[in-house]
Amino acid sequence: RTIESLGSLRGKRVIVRCDLNVPLDDGRITDDGRVRASLPTLSALLAEGARVVVVSHLGRPDGEPNPKYSLAPVAARLGELIGRPVAFATDTVGASATDAVAALADGEIVVLENLRFNAGETSKVDSERGAFAAQLAELGDALVSDGFGVVHRKQASVYDLAQILPSAAGLLIAAELDVLDRLTANPEAPYTVVLGGSKVSDKLGVIGHLLPRVNSLLIGGGMLFTFLAAQGHKVGSSLLEADQLDTVRGYLAEAERLGVKIVLPTDVVVASKFGADAEIAVTAADSIEETPFGVSGLGLDIGPDTAQAFAAIIRESKTVFWNGPMGVFELAPFAEGTRAVAAALTEVDGLSVVGGGDSAAAVRILGFNDDQFGHISTGGGASLEFLEGKRLPGLEVLGWA
Ligand code: 3PG
Repeated sequence: RTIESLGSLRGKRVIVRCDLNVPLDDGRITDDGRVRASLPTLSALLAEGARVVVVSHLGRPDGEPNPKYSLAPVAARLGELIGRPVAFATDTVGASATDAVAALADGEIVVLENLRFNAGETSKVDSERGAFAAQLAELGDALVSDGFGVVHRKQASVYDLAQILPSAAGLLIAAELDVLDRLTANPEAPYTVVLGGSKVSDKLGVIGHLLPRVNSLLIGGGMLFTFLAAQGHKVGSSLLEADQLDTVRGYLAEAERLGVKIVLPTDVVVASKFGADAEIAVTAADSIEETPFGVSGLGLDIGPDTAQAFAAIIRESKTVFWNGPMGVFELAPFAEGTRAVAAALTEVDGLSVVGGGDSAAAVRILGFNDDQFGHISTGGGASLEFLEGKRLPGLEVLGWA
């Protein structure tokens, strides 16, 4: 269901479920990409004369109000970007929200406080989520669901609310699916997927699903050490998910059977400790414990030879999907692998997609522009689960699955 299917929205209270889960450093937004991505839908609704009620989560505050996760700075940033006053309610379904929504005139907008300050939002118990969704529904006449980054979550504002109010997908969801469909339908070969980030277990499903579809899978980030360990190498004090070793061995064998290249780093940047002031050494991927730091060495980035090799494969590809930084890019000594991969993506003669909050933030923080890439997805887990072929509750409920 598209926004048009909701009919005229002039004078209607329209709840817009956005994903404004932006990275914050001491209350300062370090990447406002998700706020920018919400603008087309919000501007269109305001231009139509709707009374817009924006809801979102920020972080994982566990169902309790927590000032660290307040959406107040995000509301302020939205006001700057959208160029009109944005009201802010200090709760989600309490008196502040009710009053602020009641005070809206046509073409005005309010942001409500973090949905996840309410335990019902993320509850696994259907009736608890349903009860919270019913409270939210009091605040709107219709729902526009546009938080693509959260469509893989069966949560009250994403799933249950859409069953109560007339609902439709917003412009961001439509745009995201347009591109991601091209990655699943008929991706032009060579198709390369670059995976990084810290949690191997989060990405394993996608590896299994993608192996039969891709030509090369490049592995970096914290997850690379579990791959190296699965090949029998020692990894010092680097991140290791020991319970995933067998699964990873299974994927390595499967890739060989299918003739798909899983490309692992040949060198890594090892640090004496976690910190920008650590001593560092570049070493072969099979000699991580042979640096001066011995077994306490921590691998925090792919090495320069690997970065070059990854970049060459990426540049020669016609379709590239990248999720997850190659190293701890927030710390300058460990940003080069991520920078090299990002730079190579900008040179792809074909479709290049950066997926995920962390990778999207990384390219912007490292100084790249959005228009240097084919598409920067606002969804991390959501885009991965989409590529994995999973059913996404937030899309299914809108009839978009
Ligand atoms: C994300 O950052 O991937 C989305 O905002 C979803 O957040 P979550 O993983 O905390 O549900």
